[in-house]
Amino acid sequence: MPLKVLILGGGNGAHVLAGIAASNPENEVRVMSLFQDEAERWSKALESSDLVIDYTDKDGKEKQFVSKPGLITNDPKVAVPGSDIIVFVVPAFAHAQYWEALKPHMEPGMVAIGMPGAAGWEFQAYNILGDKAKGITLFNFNTLPWNCRIKEYGKRVGIVGFKDNFVGAIRKGSMEPKVDPLKAIQQSLGPRPVCTAYGDLLGMTLTHTNAIIHSAIMYGRWHDWDGKPVREAPLFYQGMDQASADLLSRVSGEIVAIATAISAKNADIDLSNVKHISDIMLEFYPEDIKDKSSLLRMMQSNKAFEGLRHPVINNDGGGVSPDFTSRYIWEDVPFGLVVHRGIAEIVGVHTPNIDKLIIWGQGLMGKEFLVDGKIKGKDIGMTRAPQRYLFKSRL
Ligand code: NAI
Repeated sequence: MPLKVLILGGGNGAHVLAGIAASNPENEVRVMSLFQDEAERWSKALESSDLVIDYTDKDGKEKQFVSKPGLITNDPKVAVPGSDIIVFVVPAFAHAQYWEALKPHMEPGMVAIGMPGAAGWEFQAYNILGDKAKGITLFNFNTLPWNCRIKEYGKRVGIVGFKDNFVGAIRKGSMEPKVDPLKAIQQSLGPRPVCTAYGDLLGMTLTHTNAIIHSAIMYGRWHDWDGKPVREAPLFYQGMDQASADLLSRVSGEIVAIATAISAKNADIDLSNVKHISDIMLEFYPEDIKDKSSLLRMMQSNKAFEGLRHPVINNDGGGVSPDFTSRYIWEDVPFGLVVHRGIAEIVGVHTPNIDKLIIWGQGLMGKEFLVDGKIKGKDIGMTRAPQRYLFKSRL
């Protein structure tokens, strides 16, 4: 029996997962995109072409995965029944509509996988699925296995870099999962990266790494921007400066302090998967990081980050300006930092650096999350902070 893999989303990561998973005949791959006419466009593109994924192998050779996913649809009635694993590969602001669409068709024993789920993924799952969540196994990763960008919609995508190790956490439902979650995701991803799972699911919410990395770098580069266009999009990681690295390190220290406070009160919650960002980078990229002498040098010298640039908007009069509508703000603040800050508030941990990033980010978004030192702003309904779900104690 083939492994039935359902992929949610239609962007960069969904293309890569669909292409790699479908290249193994032991997988039966379906994709569901609920965004505009994406499912139709992608299906049409594949009528005349295969899906090609370009990547550089460990031996330095340029290679490709070439395949065709079995089904691309926007219809949950067709996509969901019978799935063994359902993988979210879509920005967090779109997750709620996917949970709503999945709910009527979810069967006990299915495994939902966040790749990444981002922070608060499980809070939203419990909130939307209600009793249906009981039979479902939740498996979250704190990031995506690759850095990747679509080259031609539906047809071609490039992997800029692979992670070597891909770490997640599993929380089983009351029903045994239909398939072994770890084996199933490894079979979908192929041999690279190597997947492991340990610790409590809450550890993935706390170590949603993009939220803290992107926010610290965006703040460092643009918080005192004078509003004048710059010549070109600055390099995101290679162009990082010392102040941003120091800020990132302090933010990460606050996350570790939150985990320590939770574990001190709840000895049964295993948060050994919450680590400082320097250790996480070394875990993800042991081979790609050329200079491991400091956090700044690790970020600047990581092969998997090479060439990635700040999100920008082209100006009519020449030059570019930062794109503050990008997911580096709209995903990473409400589905990252605000969730972390909300948990910190429950366990009484002071987080001045996270607060600084939220206050800057919410200002750019024209939203209110953190007000008078509390996660109580009028816009917390668009976040996944525990306060939004009225969770006050045990998470
Ligand atoms: P993407 O930016 O390519 O996603 C775009 C897709 O999201 C669209 O194709 C559509 O399917 C969906 N979407 C966009 N706006 C929507 C809306 N308003 N309503 C419903 N659906 C909408 O995302 P990508 O690059 O595939 O990333 C997926 C996740 O992985 C994100 O959470 C991202 O932060 C994370 N990630 C991505 C990396 C990358 O290199 N692409 C690296 C590390 C993490």
